[in-house]
Amino acid sequence: MTTTSSAPGKVYLFGEHAVVYGEPAVPCAIERRARVTVSERDDDRLRVSADALSIDGFTVEYGNASDDGPDVDVPTPLVEAATGYVDEAVAQARDAAGRPDAGFDVEIESEIPLGAGLGSSAAVAVAGIDAATRELGVKLDTREVADRAYRVEHEVQDGQASRADTFCSAMGGAVRVEGDDCTTLEAPDLPFVVGYDGTSHDTGELVSGVRALRDEFEFAADTVETVGDLVREGERALADGDVETLGRLMNFNHGLLSALGVSARTLDNMVWAARDGGAVGAKLTGAGGGGSIVALDDDGGSVTALSLTPDCEEAFRAELATEGVRVE
Ligand code: PMV
Repeated sequence: MTTTSSAPGKVYLFGEHAVVYGEPAVPCAIERRARVTVSERDDDRLRVSADALSIDGFTVEYGNASDDGPDVDVPTPLVEAATGYVDEAVAQARDAAGRPDAGFDVEIESEIPLGAGLGSSAAVAVAGIDAATRELGVKLDTREVADRAYRVEHEVQDGQASRADTFCSAMGGAVRVEGDDCTTLEAPDLPFVVGYDGTSHDTGELVSGVRALRDEFEFAADTVETVGDLVREGERALADGDVETLGRLMNFNHGLLSALGVSARTLDNMVWAARDGGAVGAKLTGAGGGGSIVALDDDGGSVTALSLTPDCEEAFRAELATEGVRVE
């Protein structure tokens, strides 16, 4: 048998980083999906291959479940990261199905670049757990898929992950995450524009940087709390469908993330290009350091402005993905 599941990527309307310290965040799923195809094998091995992850395609074959890593060369650190998420997702599926020795061929196709702040790892974890458990004849509740995918991120990112990315990818739409409290939100179809600089970041490293700043300076801890206040204000604007206010708050959020040291020249340049192109607001999305920005722009002038910006490799309109994880 073969089972394929897909799950969407996401942008943060507000609240990345602060969410790690218990403040609320509002990520929104976007119509760019990761698809994971799983076939059960006769033995207990794991073979992972991937195409179109904005890296060269790769195939890695693992030993049995008790081995602790790939047994062939892993071409790049990015591939290593991707296989780490798949490895942990398979471990969750084996656990959920009570089949510790189940072996799989796993194929990943993703429209979401890796490590770009668009939730590729969460989408791969969510779709991977869903496909592998279904392949073993077990149908998990979507919230359980989200919870197990969170444990995957937590494991791979050395204990530094919030539930935001994985919950959003599993449920779809706009969601609110505050600690362990995860809810779905009513949201209008916001006119998201994404700019991607072609680079990737290490989420764990960036989270550690903010943690160190927060430990060193009280005003950095205050900045994290201010992001929380901003998110609460943003939730009201979202409920009212007040795009103008959402944009102003996104600009403010970008400034606070910049103060916390997680922006980059490429991200700042893309944020300004989007604003110059007519966006009502723009901010970095995800861990920062490099990767992507998100803007709100009805007219699409910011797509053109971003396309003309040397720091921007790809600019596109992104629709809210109302559907989360699904079997294909
Ligand atoms: O860049 P991403 O997609 O890994 O997003 C990370 C978001 C953080 O808030 C920085 C970390 C987290 O787990 O919430």
